Amino acid sequence: MADGELGRIGLKRSNLFREQCYIDGKWVGEPEIEVRNPATRGVIGRIPNLGRAETLRAVAAAEAALPEWRALPAKARADVLRRWNDLMLKHQEDLARLMTAEQGKPLAEARGEIAYAGAFFEWFGEEARRAYGDIIPGPAADRRIMVMKQPVGVVGAITPWNFPAAMITRKVGPAIAAGCTVVLKPSELTPYSALALALLGEEAGLLAGVLNIVTGDAEPIGQVLTEDPRIAKFTFTGSTPVGKKLAAQCASTVKRVSLELGGNAPFLVFDDADIEVAAAGAIVSKFRNTGQTCVCANRFFVQDGVYEAFAKLLAEKASELVVGDGLAGVTQQGPLINVKALQKVEAHVADALGHGAKVLTGAQRDSQGGTFYQPTVLRDVAPDGLLAREETFGPVAALVRFRTEEDAIRMANDSRAGLAAYAYTRDLSRSWRVAEGLQYGMVGMNTGLISSETLPFGGVKESGIGREGSKYGIEEFLEIKSIVVQL
Ligand code: SIN
Repeated sequence: MADGELGRIGLKRSNLFREQCYIDGKWVGEPEIEVRNPATRGVIGRIPNLGRAETLRAVAAAEAALPEWRALPAKARADVLRRWNDLMLKHQEDLARLMTAEQGKPLAEARGEIAYAGAFFEWFGEEARRAYGDIIPGPAADRRIMVMKQPVGVVGAITPWNFPAAMITRKVGPAIAAGCTVVLKPSELTPYSALALALLGEEAGLLAGVLNIVTGDAEPIGQVLTEDPRIAKFTFTGSTPVGKKLAAQCASTVKRVSLELGGNAPFLVFDDADIEVAAAGAIVSKFRNTGQTCVCANRFFVQDGVYEAFAKLLAEKASELVVGDGLAGVTQQGPLINVKALQKVEAHVADALGHGAKVLTGAQRDSQGGTFYQPTVLRDVAPDGLLAREETFGPVAALVRFRTEEDAIRMANDSRAGLAAYAYTRDLSRSWRVAEGLQYGMVGMNTGLISSETLPFGGVKESGIGREGSKYGIEEFLEIKSIVVQL
């Protein structure tokens, strides 16, 4: 029986905890880099510090596995994905506890993420069987054009720490459903979910080399994944500055690129909204994962007529959230991932207060210490301060007042980010005008929770390129081949 941090996780199936990487169907590397629980700062374990040489080996394994994997009937690939999802659900509690320990999110959210993550495997297994082509009427009577879809090839993927399982399955699911093979670098802050998934993938029937996982030094690993000509497609979820850099590196070999980058989601509450529903949606949208999601509401624009009532209600609800270690069953908000994240939140709050904002609740570190921060609601926030310009990635709701619908849409669109937006109104015509006017890839209309495997997830402007999930997600891993037939 393990003691310390690992013992506290209390895995029923202890071999789900892996301290080695997974390359060509083998567990490799020596545990070196410490992985800490953000709630306690205790060391959970270590992971290998791999670099260029091992990543090149992983790419070679993925390339070697490609012909056999892509040649399988789609149903055979779908069967593996279905079994993989089944195994994830069978071990949901262990996977959730592991995730909470390494990432900090409350156990209930981690359980939800495992189900959400597994759903991408199930969904894309089903989609694999429907990767249909076309027959196009030709430009002349004796010509036809056929279109077929083929897997892109070897995929390089880099995933973040905020959703240690779902951001992997949302990429790996469609990639391997399409017949591609993958080299994945998970975040070194949350690698254990990825490694446990690899073990379950092996048990579900993945061929050696179809999925390879490397942990270690981001720079050399990222360089191989973005520059090696054997990699046909690169997919990344993370910050906008890093995404821009990686996309530029991909240009040298003209790779297909998908990017899911930062957001700065506006949350609009109109006078005609049901403010109980809006406040409940705001809690979900803002405080899920301690405000550390790319689709978290970041700027709240509230119309004059409901401003006071909405602000009071939201502050009440936020102040009731139970802050603590995610492994404690009652916790509703966990710690921030690290000190850097905490300092960013503090800087944003200080900037807002310096520009006249007032505290309705929170606005300070939690008494538990570490990186715990109180759920915070600020009112009278300047629309051009740090909180409005940058993604806070923390539990701070910043309220700005507006008068007209035009003002709200203009302020909401005044951002280089364009991932998610939310609006609350009971006026049907307004809901359409607003949804169409918001320059965002996704709009939650009268809901603060939009994510599911069926949603085309992605952004416009500097929030990214491409869509994940839904029937569109698999297209990112398929090439269109056109065949012109002379009769
Ligand atoms: C993200 O933060 O990038 C993902 C959020 C989600 O899938 O809901």
